[in-house]
Amino acid sequence: EKGNYRHFMEKEIHDQPDSCRNTLSAYLDPIAGKAHAPGGFDFTAIDRIQIVACGTASYAGQIGRYLFERLAGLPVDVEIASEFRYRDPAVAKGTLAVAVSQSGETADTLAALRWCKDKGLTTAAIVNAHQSTMAREADVMWPTHAGPEIGVASTKAFTAQVSVLTALAVAAAAQRGRIDAAQEAALVAHLLEAPRLLAESLHVEDAIHAIAPEIAKARDVLYLGRGPMYPLALEGALKLKEISYIHAEGYAAGELKHGPIALVDEQTPVIVIAPTDDFFEKTVSNMSEVIARGGRVILITDAQGAAHAPEGARVITAPTCDPVIAPLVMAASIQLLAYHVAVIKGADVDQPRNLAKSVTVE
Ligand code: M6R
Repeated sequence: EKGNYRHFMEKEIHDQPDSCRNTLSAYLDPIAGKAHAPGGFDFTAIDRIQIVACGTASYAGQIGRYLFERLAGLPVDVEIASEFRYRDPAVAKGTLAVAVSQSGETADTLAALRWCKDKGLTTAAIVNAHQSTMAREADVMWPTHAGPEIGVASTKAFTAQVSVLTALAVAAAAQRGRIDAAQEAALVAHLLEAPRLLAESLHVEDAIHAIAPEIAKARDVLYLGRGPMYPLALEGALKLKEISYIHAEGYAAGELKHGPIALVDEQTPVIVIAPTDDFFEKTVSNMSEVIARGGRVILITDAQGAAHAPEGARVITAPTCDPVIAPLVMAASIQLLAYHVAVIKGADVDQPRNLAKSVTVE
C-alpha cells in the first residue's frame, strides 16, 4: 500500500531507513561489533569475486567492488550479465560468482549465474525475492530485506544491496586478517549509523524541490562522481532516464576532459556527487572546469564539502558520514531528484513507458 504517498517510488524511497536497518540486522552483530554472512561463509577460501547483474543491481555491484577491494583486498570484477554470459569469460578457479538481483528472475543474470555454476564455481545470490529462481539455484543465498518493491525504478532494493555488499566486505576483511577486531567494530558502528543517516538524508527534499524545475527543462543532464560515487553517478543518470525520459549520462569525473566536457553549456546541468573523501579535491577541480565553461553545477555533498564548494556551484547538503556508508547516504538525493523531476513532467513514475519491473526474457 502507498499510504500517504503519491507513488510507490516515493514511498519506497522513504522506506529506506527501515529496509536498510532490516537488511543490516541479518549481517551485523551490534553487541560483538562483528559482521558476518548469514549462515556463515569462508571468505578465506576464495581468491576473487565475479559479480554479475543488470541495471541498478550492477551499480550496487560496482560500489561493492570498491569496498571488497579496499577493505578485504579481494579482487572483484563486475560485469553486466548480458555481456558476461555471451563472451566466454576466462574465470579463474577460486572465484566466487555473485549474482545481484532484486527479483532473482532477471534472465541474463540467471543465465550468467548458471554458466558460473556449470564451470564449477561457487555461486551466491544477493536477492530480495527469497523464493526466486536465483535464490534456489545459487549455492549461497544472501538476502536483502527491502520488502516488496513495486516501483519499476529500483530504490530501496538498491540501498539494501549496497548494505549487504558493505557488510560482507567488512566480514571478508576481518576473516582475511586485513582489519583487526577494533577496526571491524568501528566499521560495524559506522554501518549501524546508516539507517539513521539515510533518514536524515531524506531532508534534502526541500533543496531538491528548488532545483527540480530547472532539471525538468533540461534536454541532457550529466552526472559525475569518483570512486564509489562513480557508480552512484551512473545510477543517478539511470533513475532520471527511466522515469523522467530526460537523457542523462553518468561519467567518472576524471573522464570529463576526455570527451564529455564538450557537452558542457548553459543548458546542460552537471550533477556532481562528492562527499568529503579522498577524492573530493580532485572533483572540485572538475567542477571548476565546468563552471569556467559556463556550465551549471549542482553539487551533492556534506556540510564540509558545501563549505569548500567552488563559487557558482549550487549545493544539496546531505548528512556528514563515514566514507564507508556514503553511497547509502548519498543515494537518497539522486533518487529524490529523479522522482521530483518526473512528477513535474507529469510522467507515470511507477510504470515508466516501455519498462517492466522484471526482465525475464532477453
Ligand atoms: O530484478 P533485478 O535486480 O535483477 O533487475 C535488474 C534491472 O532490470 C533493474 O535494476 C532495472 O535496471 C531497474 N528498472 C532500475 O531502476
